[in-house]
Amino acid sequence: MHLTFFLLLLTPPSLAEPIASPLASPFPLSSVSLTSGLLPANQNRTVAYLLDVAPDRLLYNFRLNHKLSTLGAAPNGGWDAPSFPFRTHMQGHFLTAWAQCHVALGLAECRTRAENFVAALAKCQANNAAAGFAAGYLSGFPESDFDLLDRRQLKSGNVPYYAVHKTMAGLLDVWRLLGSAAARDVLRGMAGWVEARTGRLSSAQMQAVLGTEFGGMGDVLAELAQVDAPNRARWLAVARRFDHAAVMDPLAAGRDALSGLHANTQVPKWIGAARVYVVTAEDYWRLGTPYYTGEDRYRAVAVNAWEATVHHHTYAMGGNSQAEHFRARDAISGFLSKDTAEACNTYNMLKLTRDLWTLSTNTTAPGGTEHFDYYELALLNHLIPAQNPASAHGHITYFTPLNPGGRRGVGPAWGGGTWSTDYDSFWCCQGTQIETNTKLMDSIYFYQESNGALLWVHLFVPSVVRWEARGIVVRQTTAFPAGDGTELVVEKAGTTAFRIKVRIPAWAVGAEVSVNGGPASGVKSGTYAEFGMEWKDGDRISVKLPRRLRLVAANDKPGVAAVAYGPVVLSGKYGDTALTAMPGLALGSIKATQKPLEFTAQADGKTVTLGPFHEAHGHNYNVYWAVSGQLS
Ligand SMILES: *[C@@H]1O[C@H](CO)[C@@H](O)[C@H](O)[C@H]1NC(C)=O
Ligand SMILES: *[C@@H]1O[C@H](CO)[C@@H](O)[C@H](O)[C@H]1NC(C)=O
Repeated sequence: MHLTFFLLLLTPPSLAEPIASPLASPFPLSSVSLTSGLLPANQNRTVAYLLDVAPDRLLYNFRLNHKLSTLGAAPNGGWDAPSFPFRTHMQGHFLTAWAQCHVALGLAECRTRAENFVAALAKCQANNAAAGFAAGYLSGFPESDFDLLDRRQLKSGNVPYYAVHKTMAGLLDVWRLLGSAAARDVLRGMAGWVEARTGRLSSAQMQAVLGTEFGGMGDVLAELAQVDAPNRARWLAVARRFDHAAVMDPLAAGRDALSGLHANTQVPKWIGAARVYVVTAEDYWRLGTPYYTGEDRYRAVAVNAWEATVHHHTYAMGGNSQAEHFRARDAISGFLSKDTAEACNTYNMLKLTRDLWTLSTNTTAPGGTEHFDYYELALLNHLIPAQNPASAHGHITYFTPLNPGGRRGVGPAWGGGTWSTDYDSFWCCQGTQIETNTKLMDSIYFYQESNGALLWVHLFVPSVVRWEARGIVVRQTTAFPAGDGTELVVEKAGTTAFRIKVRIPAWAVGAEVSVNGGPASGVKSGTYAEFGMEWKDGDRISVKLPRRLRLVAANDKPGVAAVAYGPVVLSGKYGDTALTAMPGLALGSIKATQKPLEFTAQADGKTVTLGPFHEAHGHNYNVYWAVSGQLS
């Protein structure tokens, strides 16, 4: 081996030069507009809540804890009540959602709310000496909770790093998305506090601390390392302290030891692993080499965790977990209850999914669609309909019940039992859903600059993407999920040649594409169809994605299955009728009606209407059936 080449690989590269990433990148939210369809309505309802909620109420616990006046504001209920152990976990979600709202929609009031909130948090943090807290600390509960945590004396159910992570993630978004130096400074203070706090523990003590849910601490610190160049090495080192060996080691070795673990405690650790991997790889991309010298352990953790979760712990509608926990590998049929599919887990799985797909887009990109097939399924059937369309403030359900005769917004009492409210819920899932519903455009398109310009089209959503650096504008028109295909018009072809790759989902049967009305050609499902390179304004790609009924059997019991039409999970409409057992469905009896996505079938000897699960609101539904016969 030539000596310089050898040194190139082993010498830590110098920092702070721009990164020529070999990977695909997401567009900024401001580059993609949603034009119609299901998503804008969700977005509008959440934005109405973001602009209505009273900031002083959200600041109550912070101000009280940091010994400032609460300005006469009323305290909140639910998980933000002054007596709730990890209160102030919600506020970071609001910061992210306000920042996303401003970037996505240009609403100045969202920016003002985010900036004012950060200014109020900065005052709390600045009062730490008077409040008796260490420099940088910021939360709605006393710092002594962390002393108890470090000594393993904290009451079970209290998760202080979980809440602190949320505030840090919100501040990071206000810095990144709105350019707020104030948010950056408060965040640096908090990160310095985490560095000092964790730096005095032995690695065995730290591992013990990691036995308590800590959210995405590894994730937020790795992301902070990416954007905070002067402190990159510091924050990356602190991120690595959140490598929880008991969970990561089996996954790194390819073992699924998830059974019995609290699900949403784990997923953020995997996102953190993927992001620490990227930060370590970036140092080599700066040298202009696509050769991956990121740490393979972290990539293996993230990849293996995704495989295990998506293929062995996920219900037909894309959600996972029962009573918030992973059950045995492939155990599905025995866990169809009111408390299935916690929304947070899917919010986090979708983050992990886009990160892992991105990591697969190097020069040897495999080109399969399984990442975005899952993304589409879970977004459409789980997260979009987790919001109540009858709520002007976009209130959400914590679980998506999968018991026979389940109903959205009717969960077990311990999980809220109902839809969220303005001030008396503040559940974890309410927080993640205000984020989801203000970034609905973030994964429709990606772009890539290595090997020539490339526009990726993952999701079928009526929208416009503007690739500003290249002067390219592409409009997508589709009736999906009601219709079966999409059309892309290159409204502005820009100044350079570029390719377009469109996902042809695995569920598509006999997919066809054509350009400018020319002859249709068949394309393989489960791959990306590629088009390019020379475009003129007005060029048009038509994609036909025919669907058929599919059976999604429980992994552990072939006789228990859900029915889907392409990516659209179907559910039986039972009105207010309670079901005491899983109905038997005669598969051969399913017939399409005149309405798109509506079918009828015989279940338990009676005719039942099957409709799209994403529209199953305000009635009892059934998703999993005891099936007999065959789909015709
Ligand atoms: C969402 O809000 C915008 C701005 O008020 C409005 O133009 C649009 O029609 C709304 N869309 C839906 C689907 O509610
Ligand atoms: C691309 O990523 C795959 C794993 O996703 C890896 O095996 C391969 O070595 C990478 N190729 C390059 C050229 O970096």
